Amino acid sequence: MTDTTVKTVASPDPSHVLDRVLVLEMVRVTEAAAIGASRLIGRGDEKAADAAAVEAMRAAFNELEIDGTIVIGEGERDEAPMLFIGEKVGAAPGTGPKIDIALDPLEGTTITAKAGPNALAVLAVAEEGGLLNAPDVYMEKLAIGPGYPEGLIDLNKSPADNVRAVAAAKGVAPGDIIVCVLDRPRHTDLIAALRALGCGIALIPDGDVAGVIAVTNEDTGIDIYMGSGGAPEGVLAAAALRCVGGQFKGRLLFRNESERARARKWGITDLNKQYDLSELAKGDCIFAATGVTDGSLLAGVKHRKDGILTTESIVMRASSGTVRRVKGEHRRP
Ligand code: FBP
Repeated sequence: MTDTTVKTVASPDPSHVLDRVLVLEMVRVTEAAAIGASRLIGRGDEKAADAAAVEAMRAAFNELEIDGTIVIGEGERDEAPMLFIGEKVGAAPGTGPKIDIALDPLEGTTITAKAGPNALAVLAVAEEGGLLNAPDVYMEKLAIGPGYPEGLIDLNKSPADNVRAVAAAKGVAPGDIIVCVLDRPRHTDLIAALRALGCGIALIPDGDVAGVIAVTNEDTGIDIYMGSGGAPEGVLAAAALRCVGGQFKGRLLFRNESERARARKWGITDLNKQYDLSELAKGDCIFAATGVTDGSLLAGVKHRKDGILTTESIVMRASSGTVRRVKGEHRRP
């Protein structure tokens, strides 16, 4: 049970497909996944945590009056038993609003297994065709929060030039800028370039959806997100920034021919394209997330001694720019 209840009325205008989607129902879906994974926090079993989140998220989706198609999910049909790309979800196939769904039932499987910060259950929905069908490859990412001039950052510029541009726009020295980067050996050169400028670097072990979204919240102190991570996570983060503002640039990175072939299979022809926010998540879209473990965006699931589970979620919509935080108290049946 949550402390926010909204009844969504079907829109008379069929062009506004997402009007007919129960926006806050998306929170029920991420809540279910987060609660499912929460029993596995700190248990050292990434696969079990992911499986619990997937199963719970799928069951929650299938209660909704939608005609949903997963465009970013747990993998391709032959590698994922549930929530695979192309899977139809929802209780109203053919009659409910047709929506595309990008999801990550557990963003931060290792974090959850180790009880670290910032694991999330997360999804984005858009009208049919609104989300880039990103293959499961890496994506080079660059993000800043709202309030900067458009076009300030560019993946074709060096990291140092991007930092200098953001510092100048903020009115500070490059050394005053804080950059969030995934702690990976592949980022050694990037980190060295940032250190040479004297930047602060917030190194995160995992969880770059939260890392990217952190640039939109001045309380985190993070000015820029830089580096490569999963492309599906890039689309999810882009959907969030479409709703709250900010700039995001993404470019797919391919390690071999089979990854390039996978991208072509999903209709991507320009493999070197630098994607902007609205190319990753276009039209109206909704982003929802529930904290699994405590983090910069949300509190994690807590199992209270009175048997109640508490959750914190965020749901936001691009067309209205509305951001809702939802605190849930869930009584076990
Ligand atoms: P999982 O939840 O699938 O483990 O992903 C966590 C994550 O850190 C993402 O946030 C990030 O985009 C990706 O992994 C980075 O991939 P890699 O661990 O290969 O560097």
